[in-house]
Amino acid sequence: MIQINNLGLQFGKRVLFEDVNLKFVEGNCYGVIGANGAGKSTFLKILTGDQDPTKGQVTIEPGKRMAVLKQDHHEFDEFSVLNTVMMGHNQLWKIIEEKDALYAKPDFSEADGMRTAELEAEFAEMDGWNAETDAATLLSNLGIKEDYHYTTMSDMPAELKVRILLAQALFGNPDILVLDEPTNDLDIKTISWLEDFILDFKNTVIVVSHDRHF
Ligand SMILES: Nc1ncnc2c1ncn2[C@@H]1O[C@H](COP(=O)(O)OP(=O)(O)OP(=O)(O)O)[C@@H](O)[C@H]1O
Ligand SMILES: [Mg+2]
Repeated sequence: MIQINNLGLQFGKRVLFEDVNLKFVEGNCYGVIGANGAGKSTFLKILTGDQDPTKGQVTIEPGKRMAVLKQDHHEFDEFSVLNTVMMGHNQLWKIIEEKDALYAKPDFSEADGMRTAELEAEFAEMDGWNAETDAATLLSNLGIKEDYHYTTMSDMPAELKVRILLAQALFGNPDILVLDEPTNDLDIKTISWLEDFILDFKNTVIVVSHDRHF
């Protein structure tokens, strides 16, 4: 659950919103609508912590994982497509990185052995063994063919990047999914796939869209 108390935001003299009190509960899909420039993206940024409000607070139930459709198409330029998707689950990705670094050490110590055992247990608990397959399936469903899965993000055609960032947000069954205009740059077939994905999704979705049907 996400609780919003007395939230307010203004840029200089311009008040975007004030005294907002809302609750987003599990299992619902919420659509955020409003005219261009009304403050939808800004509201989502406050939810995700990318923007501080002028007043009030956002409280997210402890232990709940929020995933966001990233807007910066260059943020993952140095990573492969498949790794970019897995990075959507930050906790799992940190474990993968730490494990890889330990296994690559030329002077692997007894302490390193104990640490890797801990990491392997957490990795298995998070269904890490299926992570690559799950990421690849999401990518394929979003129209990113296997030939591209090991390509570096900076080498990907610009119009395909949003699909990869969408796969990243959907990866690993987040508790709260925040999507700002996810259908931009998607074809009808992929939009329809995303509609079905969201319909089947059991957790909370908060989505901004100008596509009325969607
Ligand atoms: N950092 C900022 N400083 C000052 N003004 C800002 C800032 N960020 C956004 N704004 C202004 O706040 C208003 C709301 O912007 P926002 O991007 O949230 O709108 P939106 O509802 O998402 O619009 P759209 O439908 O076009 O995406 C706009 O007038 C914008 O110019
Ligand atoms: Mg916007």
